Amino acid sequence: MMPTPLRFRRRSYLGLLFLFSLSTSALYFIYSAPGIVNEYVFMVQARGIQIRENVKNIGAQVLEQVVRGAYNINGTDYSYDFNFNESDAPPTTYLPDGFTYLPSQICPEKLPLMKGRVEVNMSEVSLEEVERSLLEGEPSIAEGGYWKPKDCLPRWRVAILVPFRNRHEHLPILLRHLVPVLQKQRLQFAFYVIEQAGTEPFNRAMLFNVGFKEAIKDFDWDCLIFHDVDHLMENDRNYYGCAGMPRHFAVKLDKYSYMLPYNEFFGGVSGLTVKQFKKINGFPNAFWGWGGEDDDLWNRVQFANYSVSRPHGEQGRYMSIPHHHRGEVQFLGRYSLLRHSKERQKVDGLNNLNYLPVVFRMPLYTNITVSLSRNLAPVADY
Ligand SMILES: *[C@@H]1O[C@H](CO)[C@@H](O)[C@H](O)[C@H]1NC(C)=O
Ligand SMILES: *[C@@H]1O[C@H](CO)[C@@H](O)[C@H](O)[C@H]1NC(C)=O
Ligand SMILES: *[C@@H]1O[C@H](CO)[C@@H](O)[C@H](O)[C@H]1NC(C)=O
Ligand SMILES: *[C@@H]1O[C@H](CO)[C@@H](O)[C@H](O)[C@H]1NC(C)=O
Ligand SMILES: *[C@@H]1O[C@H](CO)[C@@H](O)[C@H](O)[C@H]1NC(C)=O
Repeated sequence: MMPTPLRFRRRSYLGLLFLFSLSTSALYFIYSAPGIVNEYVFMVQARGIQIRENVKNIGAQVLEQVVRGAYNINGTDYSYDFNFNESDAPPTTYLPDGFTYLPSQICPEKLPLMKGRVEVNMSEVSLEEVERSLLEGEPSIAEGGYWKPKDCLPRWRVAILVPFRNRHEHLPILLRHLVPVLQKQRLQFAFYVIEQAGTEPFNRAMLFNVGFKEAIKDFDWDCLIFHDVDHLMENDRNYYGCAGMPRHFAVKLDKYSYMLPYNEFFGGVSGLTVKQFKKINGFPNAFWGWGGEDDDLWNRVQFANYSVSRPHGEQGRYMSIPHHHRGEVQFLGRYSLLRHSKERQKVDGLNNLNYLPVVFRMPLYTNITVSLSRNLAPVADY
C-alpha cells in the first residue's frame, strides 16, 4: 500500500527534528539541518519504515539516528537494514587468475578479471579523448559502441540506455569508466544515449521507453540497463548480465551515505530483461520533471509478480558526479500518479507512445534525439 503522500518543499534550515503523528500507525519525521542536510526533509512511516522522499546528501548518522529512533519507539518488530548485510555476500567464487576458457564456450560470469573495487575518476575529459583511448585499447569497438568478447561467447547481449539532456561533460566520464568494466565482464553490449530535445520538463521514463523501442529495433538484445549518466560503479563485480533481473544495481550511493534510502528505491541504475520490460508495459510516460518514475517502475514490477534482486554488500556501490538537477524541475504530481500505478500500468507505457527520433551513430554510442510532449503518449480514461 502506498503511504499517505506528503508534499513539502524545503523552506528553511532550522537544524531541528520534528516528530509528529498523523495517525496511530504512522509517524512522520521532518528533519533539516544546516550543513548536513542539503535539501532535506524526509518522512518515515513507522510501520514498515519507508523513507519516501528524496534523501539528499544526508549525513549517515543523522539518518541512522532518526530511523533507529523511530524503530526504538516501542512496538514495531520491523528491522530496517541500513547497511545491507555484508555477511550476506556470497562467498567469493571468482575464477582464479590464469583460468582459461575457450572461444567456443559461453563466457563465465565470475571472471578472474573482475577484481572488485575499481577506481573512479570524475575528472572532466573530452569525448574525443575517450574515443581515442578506448579505441586504442580495443579497436574492435564498432561505431555505435558495439562490442563483444572474442575469447568466449557472450552470455548476455546488453543494451545500456542512458537518458540525457545538458550533461555533455558527464557522458565521457561515464563511458571512460563503464566500457572497460563491461569488457572485463565479457558482455556483448552497446550504448544508446537518448537525448531530450525541446523545452518540456525532463522525462527520464519516456526517454527510456524511446530508447528501448529503438534498441530492440536495432539489435536482438537480451537485457536492458537503465543507467543515469552521472552514476559510476565502484565495483566491477556488479555484473550487468540479466540472470538476476529485474535488478536494482545502484544500491549504495555515495550521495545517500552508501545506504539504501528506502526499500522500494529503484533509481540510478536498474535492469530488466526485454521480456520483463514488455510485460510491465515499460516505464510510465506521464512523469514530467524529476522524481517518482523509478517508484512507479518498482510498482509495475511488483504488479507483474516479479521480485527485484540487488547486488550484495560492496558490489552495489556507486559514486555520482555532483550536480544540482541543472534547473530541471521536480515533478510534484508524482504522488497522485503513484496512487494509480496499477490502473495506469495498462494504459500508459510502451503501448501508448509515439515519437519521431533522429538517430546518429557516434563512435561509442547511438545518439537518439527526440522531442517529447504530452500528446505523444495519450492516456485514455482509466
Ligand atoms: C517503551 O518501552 C519501555 C519499556 O517497556 C517503556 O518504559 C517506555 O515508556 C516505552 N516508550 C514509549 C514511547 O512507549
Ligand atoms: C546477516 O547475515 C548473516 C548470515 O547470512 C545472518 O546470520 C545474520 O542474521 C544477518 N544479519 C542481519 C542483521 O540480517
Ligand atoms: C583522471 O582523468 C584525468 C583526465 O583525463 C587524467 O588527467 C588523470 O590522470 C586521471 N587520474 C587517474 C588517477 O587516473
Ligand atoms: C500475480 O499473482 C497474483 C496472486 O497469485 C495473481 O492473482 C495475479 O494474476 C498475478 N499477476 C500477474 C500479472 O501475473
Ligand atoms: C545528439 O545529436 C543531436 C543532434 O541530433 C546533438 O544536438 C546532440 O548534441 C547529440 N548529443 C549527444 C549526447 O551526442
